[in-house]
Amino acid sequence: MADRDEFMDDFTVRREPPNEPEEDITGAAGWSAPDASGGSRAERPLDPEPLEGDDEPTLRPRTLDEFVGQEKLKENLNIFVEAAKRRGEALDHMLLAGPPGLGKTSLCRILAQEMGVQLHPTSGPTLERAGDMAAILTSLDEGDFLFIDEIHRLNRQIEEVLYPAMEDFALDIVLGQGPSARTIRMDLPRFTLVGATTRTGLMTKPLLDRFGFSETMDYYRPEDLRKIIERSARILDVPITEDGASQLARRSRGTPRVANRLLRRVRDYAEVRSDGTIDEETAKAALEMQGVDELGLSRADRDYLLLIIEKFDGGPVGVGTISVALGEARDTVEDVYEPFLLQSGLIQRTSRGRITTRRAYEHLGVPLPGGSRNGAPDHEPLW
Ligand SMILES: Nc1ncnc2c1ncn2[C@@H]1O[C@H](COP(=O)(O)OP(=O)(O)OP(=O)(O)O)[C@@H](O)[C@H]1O
Ligand SMILES: [Mg+2]
Repeated sequence: MADRDEFMDDFTVRREPPNEPEEDITGAAGWSAPDASGGSRAERPLDPEPLEGDDEPTLRPRTLDEFVGQEKLKENLNIFVEAAKRRGEALDHMLLAGPPGLGKTSLCRILAQEMGVQLHPTSGPTLERAGDMAAILTSLDEGDFLFIDEIHRLNRQIEEVLYPAMEDFALDIVLGQGPSARTIRMDLPRFTLVGATTRTGLMTKPLLDRFGFSETMDYYRPEDLRKIIERSARILDVPITEDGASQLARRSRGTPRVANRLLRRVRDYAEVRSDGTIDEETAKAALEMQGVDELGLSRADRDYLLLIIEKFDGGPVGVGTISVALGEARDTVEDVYEPFLLQSGLIQRTSRGRITTRRAYEHLGVPLPGGSRNGAPDHEPLW
């Protein structure tokens, strides 16, 4: 369509964002988040994307059956998918929320496969201009999945392109500038937007409202993690006992990505220090050597807690101060460290900042400050 191309030129569409490899927008190999760790600093169990990314696809579940746990979510999705299939329609827009490493990306891939449609992966921070979004939207086919990872990091301009695209399957193109500018509406195929986010709280209401299906994923139960570990061990051909798998599962912070990562670390240990089988003792010894304690906390988590306890008398202390003191990005502190510490009852969020609970003192073996009898330590306002 010749005039469509002209319009697109006017709209200053950038089909290939400069300095960014093509895979960042379309290729399966470009799954790593743009801020994937470079490997120069110490590995942390919850890094957003695994360092050994090459192996990862083999462990990724490929079907809903292989996707362990999250039964309620899977049941809802099954109904949702089945109904759309029967009606021969595209799936409604869908938002998957939850802490990193719980399987949002995996689930999206599985659903695209179940629906028999193409998956177009991209992520919030890589989309800079309205034209980037327009270029992707116009390349979609009927029913395709547009997967936007870290959707809470989309900028305003892009969001505004998405509103009519999601609601009316239309792209509004502004031609010209100033008083003579006109808007032309272009039809888009009925696609499915799948958003993944670790922080629903940072999303705008108009965007949230446009999702027909929205679910938050929970941390996994130890028995589900044990199944995930046993499946991964089979794939990696690592002998593991039930007790060994349980031990790993209990220390995986409810997160499959962590479980797989710990499994690899313990496998190395088992191969070097024993006959290669991961039993309870090997798992314990290897994890202790890695600094992973019985709650699954890493050294970095314990540093976080000790910082509040030792430097700020147990809090309250603002997350900005914590991130500066730890030398971590605020996002990392809020997305990676805190959800699990909160869920484990080791910290609490208050309007004046974070405080450590009694459980944190007990877990770290630090004596409670004098005068505390029950619950969290006393938090008399200090200033
Ligand atoms: N339910 C599951 N069953 C088996 N393995 C799983 C499951 N969920 C996740 N995994 C494993 O955990 C890894 C991380 O999952 P995935 O990349 O889908 O998480 P994510 O929620 O997209 O994380 P992020 O927020 O960091 O993008 C996968 O590669 C897969 O091996
Ligand atoms: Mg992901």
